[in-house]
Amino acid sequence: MAEEAILGYLAKNQEIADSGEFAAQHGLNHDDVVNVVKSLHGFRYVDAQDIKRETWVLTDEGKTYAASGSPEVQLFLAIPPEGIPLEELQKKLDPLLFKIGRAQAAKNKWVEMGKQLVSRKVQHVDDTVKDLLLQIEGGKVINQDDIKVLKGRKLIATQTWNGYSVRKGPEYAPQRKKFAADLTREMLQSGEWKNLEFKEYNFNAKGQPIEGGHLHPLNKVRHQLRMIFLQMGFEEMPTDRFVESSFWNFDALFQPQQHPARDSHDTFYMKVPAITKELPEDYVERVKRVHESGGYGSRGYEYDWNRDEAIKNLLRTHTTAISTRMLYLLAQKPFTPKRYFSIDRVFRNEAVDRTHLAEFHQIEGLICDKGLTLGDLIGVLHDFFSRLGMSKLRFKPAYNPYTEPSMEIFSYHEGFGKWVEVGNSGMFRPEMLLPMGLPEDVRVIAWGLSLERPTMILYGINNIRDLFGHKVDLGLIKTNPICRLGVD
Ligand code: PHE
Repeated sequence: MAEEAILGYLAKNQEIADSGEFAAQHGLNHDDVVNVVKSLHGFRYVDAQDIKRETWVLTDEGKTYAASGSPEVQLFLAIPPEGIPLEELQKKLDPLLFKIGRAQAAKNKWVEMGKQLVSRKVQHVDDTVKDLLLQIEGGKVINQDDIKVLKGRKLIATQTWNGYSVRKGPEYAPQRKKFAADLTREMLQSGEWKNLEFKEYNFNAKGQPIEGGHLHPLNKVRHQLRMIFLQMGFEEMPTDRFVESSFWNFDALFQPQQHPARDSHDTFYMKVPAITKELPEDYVERVKRVHESGGYGSRGYEYDWNRDEAIKNLLRTHTTAISTRMLYLLAQKPFTPKRYFSIDRVFRNEAVDRTHLAEFHQIEGLICDKGLTLGDLIGVLHDFFSRLGMSKLRFKPAYNPYTEPSMEIFSYHEGFGKWVEVGNSGMFRPEMLLPMGLPEDVRVIAWGLSLERPTMILYGINNIRDLFGHKVDLGLIKTNPICRLGVD
């Protein structure tokens, strides 16, 4: 309707000077006129120029007086011709209305405030305030003196009005052309397509947002890390077992049975199946011996090793259990050097907080070869971490039951302006490697870190619960950027 009116009017007239007046004259809603003008302007049927005007609108108080009359008139009408005691008049009116009405009525000299009675001074009053408010509400223009009064009483306020002046545009036509959007089978069959005009492609239109699956930031970082390991010639270890026996998780790593990490406060033990069925018995025997009395130049821990403790099933606390299995397998064949890595989930019975969850992902790398030294470990760590964008490293002596020497790895974080711990590393002990049957001169250098830590740093997440678990922000999962690790 508005479109026909506008295009039709411009066919005969130069200009629509004011869209507001145009809407009023043609009985149209101004918002509809504005929308049509914008659309026609976009397709260059018309040229539109903005018009801004300050207009007056009623405040909430003004609206109530426009509906029920000004306070002074309400007060006047509440006074009977014979007059009324002040307290009674007061009771008849709302306190605020009474206060304003009394002041205004006195100013207009409509009422007499006697000692005994309040009485009318005039026979009849006109509610000019209400009339003026109604005129403003109806969009009429009123004189400046009246405006001043109403503004002073805060019954009206200014509002910016937006409209347009409209002229023909370069593509003007009295009617909008209809373009076909799709070429259909029927158009081809009937030959109608020859007479049709087709809508042009809009190459600037945004595509539909893709509502498919989304990769979690942990998946993206994991993928990049996997690429880095593969580029460095590492093979991925099969980590597809969350349930592990204490033997492979702890005992085979020369971790004593009374070590605090084996406590159920730190480790989740399985109820069903509670124990493992199969272990390589001759190797178990050698592990028992090294714990109890050592060998290979070691004194061992000098306690009674208990098989019942070793067969307990648990949720693996580190992927080093897998590394141990792999090294054991390697030891059963003629020796070949290996570089292994894994990135998978581990579980620890820990209190959950901003930086800890009871399950997380561990990244682990190891190199097994003859004659490796601590210098090799440091060199490999520099190579690995600089590929993650962490080239400034420092090492601190540490302790692990299964490595000697052991080093914590720190990296200088430019953003935080400080050294942050990024991993743990070491050389596996002879007490771990020799019972497996590996040759004596074989050394294994290894390191581990969490996947969550670098992911949180890369994606600027400071609460781990925003990243993983039931409280994650789905918006983050859907819109997180690609991982640029190892790209620049
Ligand atoms: N297993 C260690 C951890 O849980 C990581 C590690 C792996 C340390 C290999 C040294 C060597 O933190």
